[in-house]
Amino acid sequence: MTTTKATRMVRACRREPVDRIPVWMMRQAGRYMPEYQELRRKADFLTLCRDPALAAQATLDAARYLDTDAAIIFSDITLPAAALGQALTFEPGPRLAPAIRTFDDVKALKKVDVRRDLGVVLEAIRRTRAALPPEVSLIGFVGAPATLAAYMVEGKPDGNWLEFRKLVYGAPKVAEALIERVAEVVAAHAAAQLDAGCDVVQLFDTSAGELPSSELKGLAFAYARQVIAGLKPKGAPVVYFARDIGGHLEAAADLGADVLALDWKVSISEAKARLGNSVALMGNLEPAVLLTSVEEIDRRVQQILQEAEGLHGFIFNLGHGVLPPTPPAHARQVVDSVKRHGVRTRGVA
Ligand code: CP3
Repeated sequence: MTTTKATRMVRACRREPVDRIPVWMMRQAGRYMPEYQELRRKADFLTLCRDPALAAQATLDAARYLDTDAAIIFSDITLPAAALGQALTFEPGPRLAPAIRTFDDVKALKKVDVRRDLGVVLEAIRRTRAALPPEVSLIGFVGAPATLAAYMVEGKPDGNWLEFRKLVYGAPKVAEALIERVAEVVAAHAAAQLDAGCDVVQLFDTSAGELPSSELKGLAFAYARQVIAGLKPKGAPVVYFARDIGGHLEAAADLGADVLALDWKVSISEAKARLGNSVALMGNLEPAVLLTSVEEIDRRVQQILQEAEGLHGFIFNLGHGVLPPTPPAHARQVVDSVKRHGVRTRGVA
């Protein structure tokens, strides 16, 4: 059993009282940061992911510069697909070959031992945790089963997910067999990340919202629920992030995750009205707001914090990752604004 320290981030995930709303940002370690660009001059993206010292440095540089309440491990959701036997390259998005299209392709996937095949990620976690201040939570992550399966089927994603959608409707048993295999691997990988020192784990279901209601629920949500249930005995908070699921908030909040992370297309007020305090919420500043001005960022942060008033558990984040053209000072402004305006007058821990 993982013993999770009661940091501000972990307490908010558990809907326990906090002195201030915690804040971190998806893709906080990325191309918008000069320190990251410097690392990338030394090594390509996959080399960074597979070098525990460099991966730890990428995570730590971002958390230190931004002074966030949480850091996310530097890795990628596609690494388990490489462990399953697909050749992985980035150009600059992930390419996975050969693409999975048939039962035989699913059967040909390798058996994965996460400690052996994804040991570099676990070592990066150990190093990062050892160097990170104790009050900063370390977040591990995996792609949710349907989202990672979609990348594996597409091979060369173009944003339309046509091969994946075709497989889901035309050969549903193949799609489900693949999602089931992926679910086993990501569940084991997420559990191993908690064992290695992560305090929280996040499932990224970035493309689940592409599916119609029946498949969203029958495949994406069903297998995400299975992964989340498998992590329960670890005792660490689990975050479920999906995009474009505003029509299905109630079902997404009911998957067993401690936290539902929202994109910016649904307001926190609406989520609060529909979900109450059944789950902690995370989100959801539109990342393009960071391309405007310090004043606009501050205004929009305050607006989201006002909407979140009364929620027992709220974690400030963006509605998706930090965009590459973001001025670093503007990313930092998000954190500063949350720290200034996100102080809780009641319920101080
Ligand atoms: O700071 C962090 O959030 C931690 C690291 C992280 C990365 N990818 C690093 C990365 C995390 C949590 C991810 C998750 C991820 N990866 C997702 C889910 C969330 C999301 O953003 O939708 C997905 C779908 C992927 C797959 C992936 N990786 C894509 C589609 C791309 C290319 C497009 C893009 O946004 O860059 C990547 C590359 C990638 N992953 C980079 C980084 C820092 C850029 C690599 C580079 O060129 O230096």
